[in-house]
Amino acid sequence: MFNSQLKADLDYTLDRLSDEEKAKLSGKTVLITGCAGFLGFYFMNFFKEFGDRLSVKNVIALDNFMLGTPDWLEDFKEDKRFIIRKFDIIKDRIESIPEAKDANYIIHMASIASPTFYRQYPIETLDANIWGLRNLFDYYVEKKVDGFLFFSSSEIYGDPTPDAIPTQEDYRGFVSCTGPRACYDESKRFGETMCMLFSQKYGMPIAVVRPFNNYGPGMRLGDKRVPADFLKNVVEHKDIVILSNGSPTRTFCYVADSVAGYLKALLHGTYDYFNIGVETPEITMAQLAEIYKQAGKEIFGYEGEVKYAQSEDKQYLTNNPQRRCPNIEKARRVLDYDPTIRVEEGVRRFMRYVKEDLANKGAN
Ligand SMILES: NC(=O)c1ccc[n+]([C@@H]2O[C@H](COP(=O)([O-])OP(=O)(O)OC[C@H]3O[C@@H](n4cnc5c(N)ncnc54)[C@H](O)[C@@H]3O)[C@@H](O)[C@H]2O)c1
Repeated sequence: MFNSQLKADLDYTLDRLSDEEKAKLSGKTVLITGCAGFLGFYFMNFFKEFGDRLSVKNVIALDNFMLGTPDWLEDFKEDKRFIIRKFDIIKDRIESIPEAKDANYIIHMASIASPTFYRQYPIETLDANIWGLRNLFDYYVEKKVDGFLFFSSSEIYGDPTPDAIPTQEDYRGFVSCTGPRACYDESKRFGETMCMLFSQKYGMPIAVVRPFNNYGPGMRLGDKRVPADFLKNVVEHKDIVILSNGSPTRTFCYVADSVAGYLKALLHGTYDYFNIGVETPEITMAQLAEIYKQAGKEIFGYEGEVKYAQSEDKQYLTNNPQRRCPNIEKARRVLDYDPTIRVEEGVRRFMRYVKEDLANKGAN
């Protein structure tokens, strides 16, 4: 059963692309690593919904399913456009997937993004961003792909000094190489260096994106990132629990906007790197909790309160950036990236999506 909120979001994302960008996908094969994750869900649904209209040839979708195989993937198994494989980008051989040699666009997303989970798998996280990326480069360096997208992170900036907020792409970062987040932050940084070197030496059309706090359909309620935690609280009619003093700030970018940015970067065709997120509003966790409370009241009849607690995870707040807010002027100028969905609206879309999804599952 298709979800009307997801459909509206996907239509919105497609509308953000120019005709020229859409035409670049015609007849092409896209290879995605990390297809079973949050952003994977959205990309997969995008190509399922618009595969015919954009004349996309095939989508090769790879994941090692280390956090489980999501139910929604069942909907893709009958679709001939999709070639879905259990595949570990760190150690499996790309040659074992015959169709991979025909891929024109590569999207390398394989790497757990939730801090709670990447700290449970620190070496796997490091390896996916470094050896996984290297394996893809070694395989595709001679193959003349049209675009290669590497998912870096806003975390490469660490905890920026106040004068570096909003953060621009040329900020060098304030990062610990030995802290509990280092497996993620430093492997993304090294991955970016590898992207720069392979594009310089071999002319590969690599785009690096640095996502800033995405949320929306596809994010598991058990994901342990704040937008998922708060929604889980609302859905279960429990109090919204903030696991800090509520003061850290973020800007939150709805997935329908961010994926338009990622697609634009993928289709850009030359080496560059971009912040992808929204500039405003930069809000505290306490303000975000209030947005969830209000939206929850409207959509789920929610009557809970906002509470404070300490995470059972002792490292939860270690090296957690106090402020995070991007400058996205470069993506606006170079890619014509133009996000419009404010957090108050995005949270409501996310909730409507989940409400309909739960109702559909109940009906099955
Ligand atoms: N969502 C965000 O706000 C955000 C922010 C910054 C960076 N990113 C980056 O974007 C990418 C996607 O993020 P997400 O939110 O979808 O993450 P996610 O954690 O929801 O999904 C990641 C997926 O990668 C898979 N994976 C991990 N290691 C693998 C391996 N060795 N081989 C094959 N598959 C593997 C996992 O099984 C999972 O399905 C990641 O690289 C992440 O670091 C996302």
